[in-house]
Amino acid sequence: MVKNFPLEQSNPERPVISVYPDAKAASVDVAQRIASLIRAKQRDNKQIVLGLATGSTPIYVYEELVRLHREEELSFNNVISFNLDEYFPMQPDSSQSYVAFMKKYLFDHIDIKPENVHIPDGTLARAEIEAYCSAYENKIKAVGGIDIQLLGIGRTGHIGFNEPGATRFSKTRLVELNDLTRTDAAPAFGSKEYVPTEAITMGIDTIMAARKILLMAWGRGKAEIVQKTMETEVTATIPATFLKTCEQVEFVLDNEAASLLTGLEA
Ligand code: F6R
Repeated sequence: MVKNFPLEQSNPERPVISVYPDAKAASVDVAQRIASLIRAKQRDNKQIVLGLATGSTPIYVYEELVRLHREEELSFNNVISFNLDEYFPMQPDSSQSYVAFMKKYLFDHIDIKPENVHIPDGTLARAEIEAYCSAYENKIKAVGGIDIQLLGIGRTGHIGFNEPGATRFSKTRLVELNDLTRTDAAPAFGSKEYVPTEAITMGIDTIMAARKILLMAWGRGKAEIVQKTMETEVTATIPATFLKTCEQVEFVLDNEAASLLTGLEA
């Protein structure tokens, strides 16, 4: 169910928007699309590179991928993954780490090779971060770039942890988290004061180099930022708007997240 959203004339970009009845239906479709590409690459004896997100948004996608592995023999032996981000500082064995998240929802249940998994390291000394981040970029390039990048969107309009102000050509780096982002993360940490103030994130440029980008948003709580992203000109104030400038992007929404959009065409 793909609908195009005609933007105002001041904004020539026309991103593809797919609207589904609910998050589960959308996630099953996204997972099936990923699975098809994994299988197609396997037939050609090739690897596939996935850019992965954490947070509540991709959980159903990961559940469906795990189901496909268990019930439909989907193997991940040709998959290389790069996660978008990690809090800094963060120990990988902490329950709030994105390492723990990815294990819990995906990696512990599939046959991906551990050496093919990449998640930014939250344990680095500050002085090591810059070189580490440029090595992360180089690793992505060395395996041929990202085939499919999954994204959620924060209420600040962040993608990865590229908060308002992030530039179009930003790369993997240490960033400060926005106050609203830390408020939204507070439940996982017990209280906002325990949410780290920094994170390591792929940059906007890193993300936009992917060959296919699926930005997913579910629920009424995302409707305002989805509307702003679609209806505001491209601006660093809402980093997700940068995505509207690249044609490999698809916004995958459920009805609630799309509920404030006007002018959707069937
Ligand atoms: C997570 C990430 C973030 C989240 C965003 C939405 O790896 O990069 O950009 O996608 O904060 O979070 P949820 O899905 O929890 O609403």
